[in-house]
Amino acid sequence: MNNFHKTKKSAAVLKHAILDQYATPFASKTGRWSTGNRVVFIDGYAGPGRYEDGEEGSGAMLLRKAREMAHFPRRIECHFVESDPETVDRLKAVATAEGADVDYTIYDDDISTHLPELLQSAEGIPLFTYLDPCGLVIPLDEVASIFQRPGGYGSPATEVLINLTAHVRRFAGMLYSATPMEGSLQRMDGVCGGDWWRETWLEKCPTKDASEDDKMAAEQAVVEGYARELCKCAGVAGSWIIDVRPRADLKPVYYLVFATRHMDGMVTFGESASLGLQRWREYLAEVSAQDTLFGSAAEWKDEWKKQENVLKAQWIETIANGITEELAKGEPFRLIERPSVLGGLGGVARTLHFRAAIKKVLLAGKTTTDPKGAEDLWNLSIRPA
Ligand SMILES: C[S@@+](CC[C@H](N)C(=O)[O-])C[C@H]1O[C@@H](n2cnc3c(N)ncnc32)[C@H](O)[C@@H]1O
Repeated sequence: MNNFHKTKKSAAVLKHAILDQYATPFASKTGRWSTGNRVVFIDGYAGPGRYEDGEEGSGAMLLRKAREMAHFPRRIECHFVESDPETVDRLKAVATAEGADVDYTIYDDDISTHLPELLQSAEGIPLFTYLDPCGLVIPLDEVASIFQRPGGYGSPATEVLINLTAHVRRFAGMLYSATPMEGSLQRMDGVCGGDWWRETWLEKCPTKDASEDDKMAAEQAVVEGYARELCKCAGVAGSWIIDVRPRADLKPVYYLVFATRHMDGMVTFGESASLGLQRWREYLAEVSAQDTLFGSAAEWKDEWKKQENVLKAQWIETIANGITEELAKGEPFRLIERPSVLGGLGGVARTLHFRAAIKKVLLAGKTTTDPKGAEDLWNLSIRPA
């Protein structure tokens, strides 16, 4: 076992903030009409449940969600799979202490072994699967099997959140070797559902000494390719990619790929991702304040709020410009059909920013659409003036 499970690394704060934001609306919405209000969460690389400093990991968090939502009523069932025996013991202790009234199972094994039976047991029930390995994730055909699981009435909600670690670089490094470890490259082929990623990488970084920017572009292209492959082979309706950087100017430490069978999932997850990112920026501001002159909590928080307001204004401007350009084509449109007008801010900005942007375009006389009171702005028809 490594240091990872002792304290929560800052990068982990984001994935947990997003999971925390999303698990509740997912269970609330999908469990409303499901049989017995059941909702299933599979945590495929579960970890110890809590870090050694007591902070919540995904295990403790999902158990808490199950307890919190029991009275809604939502019957959240948690299935944890963890292959490291020592870590399983810790997870079991957490679950015994915190999951007394929760339906949960813990498997001391490999996720690939248990996934088929877990999918079978969730037949017909909404399912959210979280795949958060330290290294490479299960092969793409296994991820696709989640979407091809036994159906049931009404094609129940099926979603995955995958932590694609930036190990892509390590594997891509072998592409320049005269004697590559073919077995490792093939493992990566399996994860990506083919060897297409090799060419995608080499297109952006033809030589070993490519610049840092080129490597980042290559990594991004492989992750985007992965999301496309997943959508193609799993019949997924849509996906989001969230890149997790310690700071805007640093390279991503991992990418979160979310995929869903239903467009509603895209909209709700986008909102949760935006809130999770905000929570993460707040956390980073707090951490950096500990190393600087800001003495009191109020001081760093005021400064962080100022920075948030600057970001908010920039995003509204970017989105308003995108909408204005699209409207210039003379046709009404919906954001869900033209996410490119968001200028890459899908999953980063959220409803409140979209509303302000449409309002700005309305005030500029470029649209007749007033977003006031509209709940689903992704599906609002934005009409040219
Ligand atoms: C990044 S940690 C999980 C953190 C946890 N999901 C969280 O968010 O708090 C990854 C865990 O996956 C476990 N693991 C690695 N390979 C596995 C496999 N094939 N099947 C199940 N668990 C595995 C590791 O032992 C490790 O505890």
